[in-house]
Order: sequence, then C-alpha cells, then structure tokens
Amino acid sequence: MYPKISLMGYRLSGSRCLGLCLLLTFFMGCYLAALPIQYENEALPNQVRHRITAKQVLKKRLAVLVPFRDRFEELLEFVPHMYSFLNKQKIPFHIFIVQQKDNNRFNRASLINVGFIYTKKDYDYIAMHDVDLLPMNDNLPYEYPSLGPVHISSPQTHPKYHYDTFIGGILLVKREHYEMVNGMSNNYWGWGLEDDEFYVRLKDANLSVIRPNNITTGTDNTFRHIHDKTYRRRDMRKCFNQREVTRRRDRLTGLHDVAYKLHTTHTVAVDGLNVTVLNVELTCDKSKTPWCQCPDPPKEPVKKS
Ligand SMILES: *[C@@H]1O[C@H](CO)[C@@H](O)[C@H](O)[C@H]1NC(C)=O
Ligand SMILES: *[C@@H]1O[C@H](CO)[C@@H](O)[C@H](O)[C@H]1NC(C)=O
Ligand SMILES: *[C@@H]1O[C@H](CO)[C@@H](O)[C@H](O)[C@H]1NC(C)=O
Repeated sequence: MYPKISLMGYRLSGSRCLGLCLLLTFFMGCYLAALPIQYENEALPNQVRHRITAKQVLKKRLAVLVPFRDRFEELLEFVPHMYSFLNKQKIPFHIFIVQQKDNNRFNRASLINVGFIYTKKDYDYIAMHDVDLLPMNDNLPYEYPSLGPVHISSPQTHPKYHYDTFIGGILLVKREHYEMVNGMSNNYWGWGLEDDEFYVRLKDANLSVIRPNNITTGTDNTFRHIHDKTYRRRDMRKCFNQREVTRRRDRLTGLHDVAYKLHTTHTVAVDGLNVTVLNVELTCDKSKTPWCQCPDPPKEPVKKS
C-alpha cells in the first residue's frame, strides 16, 4: 500500500497531496479503530463474551476478615448474624476466620495482613471485623468503599470507644487502598494500638476515613458487643521496649514483610453457613519485637493451708 500512495503523491501537486494523504490517514485510522471492536463482537465465542459482560455487571466482592483466637462461642453467634445482615444488603461476601495458631501473643494486624494476601486475588475489598461486634442497624453500609476507607463502628456508635481518630472494630478498605499504605504494622503483639497506627498510615496517604452519616441509633443499640470481659481478659501486658516502639508510626513493616506460614485451611459450616478458617503461624523475629512473648510474671508462692 505504501509504495502506491507515494507514487500517487509524486504525480500530484504539493497541496493536493497533503489533502489526500490526510484523508487517507483519516480513513485508515477509522478502519484500525474499528478492528478490535469487530474482533470482540464477532471473533469471540459466545461463552467468553457472556462472561465479559457478566463481570462488568457483578458487584464488588467483600472478604470479611476476622482475626481470631479462642473465641468459639462468639463465632457461633457471629456467622449466622453476618450472613443474615449482609444478605439483606445483597453484598457478595465470604467470611474468613484468620486464626493464630502459634505460641506468640495475639497479633491482630498481622493476621489481617495474612487474610488480605489470601483473599486479594478474588475479593475487591475487605472488612477488618471484630468477632464480638455485631452490627444491628441495617443502615450501616457495607458497600464497596470506593472513595476511602469506611469506618462502620464510628466513635459515635461504638459501645466502648469514643475518641475522634478511633478506627477499630469494623473498617472497610478497598484492595488498592490497603496496598497503597502497605497494610498494617506487624509490630503489635498483644492487645491494642495497631488500629491507631493504621489511622496514621491512612492519614499519611491522604486517605480520609468516611463514616456513615445517616445513623440515628447510638452507642447502646447500633452494635451488640458480645465480649465477656470478666471471662476473657485482654492481653494488655507491655514488656521490653514495646510501649515506646508501639507508640510511634512504623514505616518499616507491613503487608510486604509479614512473616507467616499458612498451616492449614478448612471449610467450616455454622448452622449450614460456610466460612473459611485459615490456620496461621506467625513468625516472630525476637531481635526486632521481643515483646511477642512477655516473660511470665514471678509466681505467687503457693499458700500452705
Ligand atoms: C498529601 O497531601 C499533602 C498536602 O497536599 C502533600 O504534600 C503530600 O505529598 C500528599 N501525600 C501523598 C502520599 O500523596
Ligand atoms: C437514611 O436512613 C433512613 C432510615 O432510617 C432510610 O430510609 C434512608 O434511605 C437513609 N438515607 C440514606 C441516604 O441512606
Ligand atoms: C459449603 O462447603 C462444602 C464443602 O466445601 C460444599 O460442599 C457446600 O456446597 C458449601 N455450601 C454452600 C452453601 O456453599
């Protein structure tokens, strides 16, 4: 084709050649632009085409990540409740119980990192979800958090925590945002502060946390808190230099370096409702976070009767 065009151009005057060339380029461009569309509509087998359109229509999928250890009774209430709650909102979801199986102190943030890695291929967003906090108000929106992380259990409605920057309890984060902030810190062994550190990560990334604004229930009727604090004491010990390190923003650890072994996975049904249990062994580098195991307190002398 090219030689023919140049040959024509050779015989024609300069300005007419330019016009003709532009015209030809234009039509060629149109032809090329039309090609991939033709390919998609005609060359693809029916099945494939159907799958592509179905995927566009499909809603975003939610992975409910529940960091877990030793809370079997709560789990039995949590699973049926969440199924009925999320089905009402027509959210496509699956529940992942991320169970810590090693002998270290509980590390909620690292378990969420592991749950995220396990689910990110198939799910568009996660809910970091306490197992003992059941949403009761149907207006709490578990929809895809496209604009920024959505804090479901806001300080205005959480039964226990009311400070402005609180983002614990239940937080929805889309996959891209979780990756953008390198997930959560792996330094938090024992109870507390990992969510406050995550708040600073979001802030540093200029992600603003959105809270539901149409909730008329309050601290006593938005959630049901099924935590029995006399029966289950929180591990609030602080040992080694834990207090000092965990009060600071962690710019080193996160999603990229969470050290673990996925021991086993199980499908478990509660009242016929499937959840996936991930049994996770977290690895602790004691040279970096020696507080993953606090030394036992001195034993009280045994009283003689
Ligand atoms: C966040 O916003 C501030 C102020 O607009 C800007 O200086 C900073 O570079 C932004 N950070 C990121 C990670 O986008
Ligand atoms: C706000 O809540 C009411 C019920 O309390 C509901 O009817 C209404 O649709 C909600 N509005 C929005 C914008 O979500
Ligand atoms: C639950 O899991 C079992 C085992 O993987 C499977 O056979 C069953 O179809 C699942 N049930 C539902 C409702 O997904």
